[in-house]
Formats: sequence, structure tokens, C-alpha cells
Amino acid sequence: MKVGIESLALYSSRYYLPLSALAEARNIDPQKFTVGLGQEKMAVLPPNEDIVTMAASAAKEALVGIDPKSISMVLFATESSIDQSKAAGIWVHNLLNLSSACRVVELKQACFAGCAGLLLALSYIKQFPGQKVLLLASDVARYGLGAIGEPTQGCGACAIVLSAEPKLVSFEPETASYTSHVMDFWRPNYKEEALVDGKYSTKIYLEALQECWKNYQALSNRALTDHARFCYHIPFTKMAMKAHERLCRESKRVGYAQNEIQDSLIYSKNLGNSYTASLFIGLASLLENSSEDLSEKRIGFFSYGSGCVAEFFSGIVEPGYKNHLKQAYHKAMLEKREALDVAEYERFYAFRLPEDGGTFSVPQYTAGDFVLSEISAHERRYAKNDRLYAKQDEELAKSVNAL
Ligand code: COA
Repeated sequence: MKVGIESLALYSSRYYLPLSALAEARNIDPQKFTVGLGQEKMAVLPPNEDIVTMAASAAKEALVGIDPKSISMVLFATESSIDQSKAAGIWVHNLLNLSSACRVVELKQACFAGCAGLLLALSYIKQFPGQKVLLLASDVARYGLGAIGEPTQGCGACAIVLSAEPKLVSFEPETASYTSHVMDFWRPNYKEEALVDGKYSTKIYLEALQECWKNYQALSNRALTDHARFCYHIPFTKMAMKAHERLCRESKRVGYAQNEIQDSLIYSKNLGNSYTASLFIGLASLLENSSEDLSEKRIGFFSYGSGCVAEFFSGIVEPGYKNHLKQAYHKAMLEKREALDVAEYERFYAFRLPEDGGTFSVPQYTAGDFVLSEISAHERRYAKNDRLYAKQDEELAKSVNAL
């Protein structure tokens, strides 16, 4: 029985900061960001969007043509949780009117949680082949203004329908995991921004990759060349290049085969880090930007979550996958984004919802299909977004200045 991805959609903010502007403001050579880190733009969330609105917008698109009643489980992976108790997926479940005969949970293990959700969903579908799982991965990467990790910030969500009728990718059974107790990146409950030893974290990422690859090879008997393409976890695109370089070197290939990863990096280069979603954003980018027909080709996947847990697994691209891609939707979303200047970005970044339990109407900016409209008695309230702000909209300009 095949199990895999029936539908995949992503969503990210309608606002971004060009990294050239950030480099100028921080007095850093822009080439450090574009060449050194391989990043061009950072997606920045406005005050009226969060992990719920991003996931709900992505899910609305992923569910087009799929009976919502067939979804019997929603898994929400995030490390930007909005509540210690309630799963963010319940808000999405409500916004999309999913069936009440459905279970919803939130998963956490840094950027690995999306992969954990995928593995759990695949086992569940093998047990209940008629059922479908909606996997949501939604995150906002925050390191702090002026912090060393600032140019790698970003945000985004992926919504994936997993089922026994895969139309994009079906996954193979061999999958190798690795866990080690390391403090490379973590965020205590009382902190808004992650604590990170970035260079140590890149070193551990590569060590975890080598361990997983070794175990995956032993399980599958496959060589690097049995895989046509690779999707790595992408905290910044240079990290994925280093990862592929490492595997090529280990496998004694001369140089590294850039064409095996380059299409998977296009979206992330323009969004920045989206933690749990980044591996799947890499997959969408690969399938939608590859000029070659990837039907029946094998993709190698590597997920890494600081702390750390990692996994190497593989999947086969389904014939006819091109007819099921959300390419036009993603293209329009990326093209319609609006550039912020550094002052606007810093105002968005500094915005915090009040914590006093009072009623507060959230200032509205251009968003996707859903917005955070109000917080009252500590309860976040969401609404369908029926308003499209034009670029330079007067009301929008007023509220940006009022922040
Ligand atoms: N032109 C071109 N490249 C330049 C440059 C310039 N003017 N200045 C620096 N670089 C290159 C460096 O040589 C380096 O490349 P290399 O890694 O191939 O050697 C790269 O830019 C990064 O610069 P470096 O000074 O080594 O690192 P940094 O102190 O800026 O930190 C991170 C980089 C990734 C560690 C930091 O952004 C971070 O902490 N990010 C968040 C955590 C993270 O993403 N972890 C990843 C694992 S999940």
C-alpha cells in the first residue's frame, strides 16, 4: 500500500524585508547574507498574523478538492506555540469547519516536529487506510534585532494532506533517526527569542546528518546516486548546500552535485527560516521549480531539529504529480508581497499583544484568508479576511505609523 502526500500548500506573510536593506542598516557587507548565508529576503509577519492564520491559509488551499470530512486527524507542528495547553490546530480546525469526528494535537521538537508529524501520520494511515491526516507545520523564526541569527529569520506554514492516495510523493519504509542531548538552540518558556549557538548548531546538524545517513544506508542498501534529488532542513540555504557537500564528500563524489538541491532552495531563499515548515517548503520548491520531470524519481529527505533529533528518509515522486501542484497559488503569493523598510520591519518585530486580559482590536494589514482580529479575556479571536488592502492603502499607512 502506498502512503504519502496527496496535497501540499504553503503560506507566508505578505511582507518581507530585503536582506540588502538589513545589511545596510547593520553595516554588514550584503554579500555575507546573499553569498555567505544564501539568503535574499526575510518574510516578516504583521501583527494580525500568527502561526494559526498562516496554517489556516495554507490548509484552505491544500484542502481544495478534498472532502474535509475525510480528515480524521490534524497534527500541528510548531516551536512558536501560542498556548501552553490548547493545540493551535483546534483554531484551524474551527476556521475550516472540519469534522468534529477528528482528533487534533500539537507536536514539539524544534524543527523536527514537522517530520515527527509526517512519520506518525504515515503509520496512522497504514492502520486506517481510508482516513486522511492534515499535517500543519507553522513557525516564526525570531533571533532578535541585531542578533547574529537575525538575517536567517523568516516565517511560513505548510499544510499537507497525507493519505493512501498520494498524488505528489509516496514514502518508502526505510527511515533512520538520531537523537543526542545537545544545547545548540532552545527557547525557555519565558523568552520571546531563541537562545542559539549558531556555529555549534551547524556542526551538530552535519554530525546528525552523517549518523542518519550511515543508518539509512544500512537499512536501505542505497547509495547517494540512487537518489535523484535531496531536500534538507533549511535554516538558511547555505546550510543545505553544506549538508549536500558533506554527503557527497562522504560518498567520495568529486565536488557536489548542485543540481540535486538547487531547486529546493528557491522558496526558502526568499522566505527565510520557517523552522518546522522548512523541509516541506523545500519539497514544494523542488517539485514546482524543477524543469526536469521528476516522476518516479527518488528524493532523499533530511530533517534536523535542534536539541537534537534528526531523520533521513526517502520518497518516490508520483507520476502525474505536476497536475496536483499549487504552483500558481504560490507564485501569486510570492509575487504580491510588499517590501518593508527596516523601520517598518522593526515596528512589526516589536509588536506584542497586550497581556492584561482587556479587549484589544489588532491593527489590520494585508494578510491571507484569515486574520487575528482581537484579543479579549486572554482569548485570541480570528476572522475570515474579507478585506484586501491596496498597496499604500491610507488606512494601512496610518496603522503602520501608529505602531
Ligand atoms: N562575503 C561573502 N561571504 C561572507 C562574507 C562576505 N563579505 N562574510 C562572511 N561570509 C561567509 C562566511 O565565510 C561564512 O561562510 P562559510 O560558513 O561557508 O564559511 C558565512 O558567511 C557565515 O558567516 P560567519 O561569520 O561564519 O557566521 P555568523 O557569525 O554570521 O553566523 C550563523 C552564521 C548561521 C551561525 C548565524 O546566522 C546563526 O546563528 N543563525 C541561526 C541558527 C541557525 O540557523 N542554525 C543552523 C542549524 S539549524
